Amino acid sequence: MREICRSIKKKDHDPKIEGRSRYLADYNLTDSGREILCGKLLRSQYARARVKGVELPDMPDGYIYVDASDIPGDNNVNIVLDDTPVFARETVEYIGEPIGMIVGPDEKEVSRLISETKVDYEALEPMTDLRKADKAFFNYEFGHGDVEKAFAEADRVFEEEFTTGYQEQAYLEVQGMMAEPEDDGKMYVHGSLQCPYYVHGALARAMGTGPDGVHIYQDVTGGGFGGKEDYPSILGCQVAVAAKKANAPVRCYFDRREDMEFTPKRHPSLCRYKMAVKDGRVTAVDCDVIFDAGAYSTLSAVVLQRGIIAAPGIYDIPNVHVTGRALKTNTVPCGAYRGFGAPQTFFAVEMMMSHIAQALGEDILEFKAKHYVKQGDKTSTNGLYHFPVPIPAMVDEVDELSDLRRKHKEYSKPQSGRYRRGIGLSTYFHGAGFTGSGERDIIKAVAKLHKYPDGTVEVLASNSDIGQGVRTTFPKIVAHELNIPLEKVYYDHPDTARVPDSGPTVASRSLMTVGELLRRAAIKLRNIWVEGEEQEVEEHYKEPDFMIPFYLDRFEGDAYPTYAWGVNAIEVEVDTYTGVTNILGAYASFDVGTPVDYNIVMGQMEGGFLQGIGYASIEKMDYDKNGKIWNRSFTDYLIPTAVDVPELKVTLHVEEYPDGPYGAKGAGELPLVGAAPAFVAAVEQALGGAEKHPLHSAPFNAEDVISELNKEVK
Ligand code: MOS
Repeated sequence: MREICRSIKKKDHDPKIEGRSRYLADYNLTDSGREILCGKLLRSQYARARVKGVELPDMPDGYIYVDASDIPGDNNVNIVLDDTPVFARETVEYIGEPIGMIVGPDEKEVSRLISETKVDYEALEPMTDLRKADKAFFNYEFGHGDVEKAFAEADRVFEEEFTTGYQEQAYLEVQGMMAEPEDDGKMYVHGSLQCPYYVHGALARAMGTGPDGVHIYQDVTGGGFGGKEDYPSILGCQVAVAAKKANAPVRCYFDRREDMEFTPKRHPSLCRYKMAVKDGRVTAVDCDVIFDAGAYSTLSAVVLQRGIIAAPGIYDIPNVHVTGRALKTNTVPCGAYRGFGAPQTFFAVEMMMSHIAQALGEDILEFKAKHYVKQGDKTSTNGLYHFPVPIPAMVDEVDELSDLRRKHKEYSKPQSGRYRRGIGLSTYFHGAGFTGSGERDIIKAVAKLHKYPDGTVEVLASNSDIGQGVRTTFPKIVAHELNIPLEKVYYDHPDTARVPDSGPTVASRSLMTVGELLRRAAIKLRNIWVEGEEQEVEEHYKEPDFMIPFYLDRFEGDAYPTYAWGVNAIEVEVDTYTGVTNILGAYASFDVGTPVDYNIVMGQMEGGFLQGIGYASIEKMDYDKNGKIWNRSFTDYLIPTAVDVPELKVTLHVEEYPDGPYGAKGAGELPLVGAAPAFVAAVEQALGGAEKHPLHSAPFNAEDVISELNKEVK
């Protein structure tokens, strides 16, 4: 491997390990020495209602109430569409929607005042059934070839429906934001967040000040996984409105229950697939993808786009038709979670392909293999796979790790007895970086390097370290290119008053896209380097020349410059008495290009894979018919803990990407995306295969195993 891959100690390792890192909840006073007021949200008790009035209890001195009437600018949080309010408009649209906020010096007193506030509601009928929901925030359609003809000429046609559930990000640090009015009239907003300039744009609009009236800083952030992509914009606006009215710093951070119940999670999905088979090959796919957006549209447009572009999987299918809708329900708005729409559709397409193989009496692995796309083939949107598709080699690598092919044959023989085994395979990609033309048309990333007279170099960019290590890997790239010691390069937490907009920390883009800008900036600086002088260089994003421009109105062109690739195999033993599925091994080959720090990348691969295993197996969350989320704590929403980590064997397959730094591609999201179909396919095999027990849902937990087995008895 290249020199850059060698692992080093993370720049923020010591302060985190020693407990010195200051998270938002750790501030006793503001940095300017001011007292911090506590804000708590008054939340709707109804999934849909008209708010006729709010009756406050007697408010002690120093305690105030704020709501939509206090917003100086627009009551719209700048995300994608203009529908998410800062505080509720005339109606509330989900249980937990913020109506207002009570602010004051003592947290307990604020809680008491919230609990004694009476809201007068006129209840309205909520929509809490995705199958009946009819309001589409987004409605997309694309395809190519002649799907109708292919179905008419098919030997066989298969039609199935797949569902997936919520997934909660469960970051270690819950959501929290703080706002401080400054002496010069600006509003300073900071907290636990992924995207400083998203928060900046939202604040500029809600506060009515324009971009110069606000600045945003990212505090040490204990994980995001997508959950802090949009939400800090909402909470940031709320605390800023409160701080403006109180003319004092206001902080709001949640407890775990509040965070779990009322902040965004992965979209539940309902996917209907129809595939045509002729002469043993899939000739057409027609799929309809539905995502449960919740009450407001937030990020659903982009989540849905990524989901539907991936809907035909990594298979060379000549005729494609895809429709996708993000539907409104009166439930908490869904948002971003590692994978961003792709885990849902890859679950569906992978299960569908394996079901068809079984119905045709073919070996699943061989059936998939004969459909894999290759370099030069067209993507679902008539773009091109410009670079090698290493899937066959990666399947071999996983076979080596897991003995996949032999076990797959062995476990497909009839099994009896209490414990039964299965092994499932998934093969998939993750589009590297922003979907479509976002990078070129919207983000337009800028990154800078600033050299001080003593020869230290500061990275100026807006990407946040949320545990994935950019405070380490960005300086590593710059130090490498300048050929100076790593200690001479540093990257602080971004403050929009000081750094250019290098874009959000999302979509597995930071290292690949911004890291490459920094590499180029470092080359520039090296070429003009003058000892003892203060110097600055700047780089702007430019779309790689080879890309076929993407048009969102037609879903045409290269949706991504390149792809990270994944092959997973999960081996299980199902206890048919208890339903408990024991994972005997989870095996993966991941191609994220060059790992710019081996340990950091392996940490991402193993951690993401484990999150995917949780999504596949035990992480079950749902709402009742009133739109209330059942699960509000780690006792009723289970995520894998240390004791649940199975034998994980992960290997890296490196296909270098010429437009990423040293060949690096997007890495962060890939490892989560394929776990669910591999796990559920394994359970299906253990239960006797799709002919006996075709499985169509994830997560698939012990209760699901038992209800599936009970079908045999009935
Ligand atoms: Mo991410 S799931 O693109 O914040």
